[in-house]
Amino acid sequence: MAFSSREGTLYIEEVSAVELARELGTPLYVTSKRKLDENLKSYREAFPDALVFYSVKANDNLAIMKIVSSYGFGAEIFSNGELYLALLAGFERSKILFNGNSKSPEEIRMALRTGVVFSVDSIEELDNLFEIANEEGKTPQIAFRINPGVDPKTHPKVATGLRESKFGIPIERAQEAYEKALKLRMKPIGIHFHVGSQILDLSVYEAALTGIYDLPARLEKMGIDLEFINIGGGLGIDYTGSGAPTPKELANRVKPIFDEITSGLKSKPKLYLEPGRSIVGNTTVLLTRVNLVKNAYKKFIAVDAGFNLLIRPTLYGSYHRVAVANKMDKFEEETYTIVGPICESGDILAQDRKLPKVERGDLIAIFDTGAYGFAMSSQYNGRPRCAEVLVNGKRWDIIRERESILDLLARQRIPEWLF
Ligand SMILES: Cc1ncc(COP(=O)(O)O)c(C=O)c1O
Repeated sequence: MAFSSREGTLYIEEVSAVELARELGTPLYVTSKRKLDENLKSYREAFPDALVFYSVKANDNLAIMKIVSSYGFGAEIFSNGELYLALLAGFERSKILFNGNSKSPEEIRMALRTGVVFSVDSIEELDNLFEIANEEGKTPQIAFRINPGVDPKTHPKVATGLRESKFGIPIERAQEAYEKALKLRMKPIGIHFHVGSQILDLSVYEAALTGIYDLPARLEKMGIDLEFINIGGGLGIDYTGSGAPTPKELANRVKPIFDEITSGLKSKPKLYLEPGRSIVGNTTVLLTRVNLVKNAYKKFIAVDAGFNLLIRPTLYGSYHRVAVANKMDKFEEETYTIVGPICESGDILAQDRKLPKVERGDLIAIFDTGAYGFAMSSQYNGRPRCAEVLVNGKRWDIIRERESILDLLARQRIPEWLF
């Protein structure tokens, strides 16, 4: 078991959360390698013929990315920073996909030199790419990100496939995009879409594939040999305890329609997908210490992590399961709202939760924080970022050091006339 309760204490594999927090301090992100391996294996088994590109934005810790790349997965990146990290983590260049709706000339140049595949987000982006590719003497391999205009039935802020979304090319203009690419002598080899995140209703993928239904055949008629169709990421995870579809269930829903769309083609494209959350989300807990318990109109638990380290609840109203890591066997008798130390009234990590009686010094565990947790952290309110730890059986290693106050000063300059 990746996470268990033993004699009242939360364990991450064979390591006590209480001892880890005592030794390394809090807040602290702790990731279970066992859970990560489980998730990676379930994708590999569900999609033996597909290529899985890990979405680096979900968690860009190098140690975690290195484990992912050891499975032969690719990387889906959105910036030259993520490209650099992906290369360092050992992802093969041919298995890196460069997404993005606003790539800078520097990013395009670096990606061209690295030789990765581009997902072009707009017909307009093609001009930028063409110009720089000419200067570099390169013929990039590209896909277009198509917006099939489907409702992903998820939080509006992570819905990317709606017609009004900033991402992708409207399906009605898809053919025009490919025609222009051919005219510019680029090499279109793929179709890409990604309609949203934390998708729990698998019919969304069917709707998106239906949305591009005859596009592969039309492209073939234009002389384009599609090497892949990328159905994006977005598979949801079970934050609330009410269940979530597995990669296998996703495969069972997607494969028949994928086969239908591609069966008549002379050369069958490969299925690509680019999950992030469903690979890393449930691998990690955020441990945070109780500074005080405050009795006001409500009972608040004030902890040492806030939206500086976990912004999802503030940004999306997201729900994360919580527990008292040093009182796992105690009866849940009080209702608390857990808040961080940030000077914003929206700094709420968990609302109205039933927990054992909590006291100053207790250790709160916030579950399922491996995706868009540390990756979205900031130094807001003058708070250095926390450390990250990887647990593997009985051993643990720091995979990102805690920042210090000096990190707040890093790269700041005071003009001499201010002294
Ligand atoms: C283009 C693209 N691909 C893949 C992902 C990964 O999504 P998820 O973490 O929900 O699987 C995202 C996330 O926003 C994305 O924007």
